[in-house]
Parts: sequence; structure tokens; C-alpha cells
Amino acid sequence: MEERLQKILAQAGIASRRAAEPIIEAGRVTVDGRVAKLGEKADPETQVIAVDGRPIGRAERHVYILLNKPTGCLSTARDDRGRRTVLDLLPEVQERVYPVGRLDNDTEGLLLITNDGALMNGLLHPRYEVEKTYVAEVTGAVTEAKLAEMRRGLLLDDGPTAPAKVRLLGHQGKTAQVEVTIHEGRNRQVRRMFSAIGCDVRALRRVRFAFLTLRGVRTGEHRALTGEELAKLRRIAGL
Ligand code: URA
Repeated sequence: MEERLQKILAQAGIASRRAAEPIIEAGRVTVDGRVAKLGEKADPETQVIAVDGRPIGRAERHVYILLNKPTGCLSTARDDRGRRTVLDLLPEVQERVYPVGRLDNDTEGLLLITNDGALMNGLLHPRYEVEKTYVAEVTGAVTEAKLAEMRRGLLLDDGPTAPAKVRLLGHQGKTAQVEVTIHEGRNRQVRRMFSAIGCDVRALRRVRFAFLTLRGVRTGEHRALTGEELAKLRRIAGL
């Protein structure tokens, strides 16, 4: 049966449907050896669909990795300019995996990596409001009134933020440690939220994604998810 290429790539665990579009537009996808165009349909049963010259298997083994991303490493699968990406930290992974969402280059912490497109889409879908917790080291006056503003929601240049859970963990000299839990995933959201209350984020670490934490996984290290964790994540992602 013919289906849109984005859907075929998502089902094969290559990328979410949306993330598949630029891959097609970049001319990296071929159907029976011919470069495919965005919007095109194909039949994965009868046609050879390849990405970067590698035919996609219809049932590639799914892998699920929890990585403690260091700073100075991009959370994209590959980089045109040859900069270090999270995949460089996973040399043993042969499958074509992708990070579930993004962490900034200068953010460290918990990043899930998988080739399961359906799970990735579910976890990123706003409907499921998957919580992410960050610990930020910030400078500038952190007052209860400002933290209360963050809890209520702030107006950023791309619209208001949803209410956040915010807790002052402590102070070290001029730096405050603040824990922030949000379920949205807007670009540089936590940094921009602090900027909106007049504070500057000096370091940012994601310590929790849904129920998963970094326990036992040091910076730059990773582990596979357990079957139990996967089952729980699938429920959270509406699968
Ligand atoms: N918020 C940010 O500002 N940066 C991240 O990497 C994640 C959330």
C-alpha cells in the first residue's frame, strides 16, 4: 500500500514525521534509486526506500538509551559542520537513532535516544504534558516573588508559558540553584524564563524526564532502558 514517505520513515524509526521532512527535502531519501520529493508516496512492500543510500529495514530493532549528555555536544543526530554530537558518545549503536527532543549545546543532562518513532512522537506531543525537570545555576536576584511569577507563567516572545513547578534549592555565593519542572519544550525555554525575571543561567542540567532520572549514569555515560521503564514510557506516550 502506498503511504507518504514521512509516515514510512517514522514507522521505520528513522525520524518523527515532522523531522523526516527536512531529510526528504535534503535529497537524502531515494525510492528505487531515484531521489524522492517531499509529499511523495511510496509502497514499502514493493519499493526499495533508502536514506543516505541505506535501505530502511521495515522492522529495525528498536533501541532505547538514556544518555547523560555533557555540555559542548549537539543533541542532533548529525552535524553538517562536523561538530561533536550525542551520537559520537554512542559508537556501539548501529541503528539510526535520534534524540527525543533537544538539549542546548551548553545544557547537560538526561536525553533519551531511540529509533522508535512512535514513542518519540508520543513523548514530544504536547497532549501528554511529559514533565522535564532542570536544575539551573543562576545569577541575579532570585526572590520568592520572581519565582512565583515563573510558577504562574511568564510572557515570552513566543507566547505565555504554562505554569511551572519551581523550587529554590539553595545559594552558593552569588549563585542560586533553582529546580524547574515544565512540560513544554520550547527553544531555550528555561533560559528564557530566567531571563524574563532578570536572572542569567550559568549552567543548566536536566535531571528528570517523566519518571526517569540520571541515577547511576555519570556525565557522558549512558544505559539502556529496562523493559519496565519502556512499558511505563509507552503508557505515558499514549501507546
Ligand atoms: N531549556 C533550555 O533553556 N535549554 C535546554 O536545553 C532545555 C530547556
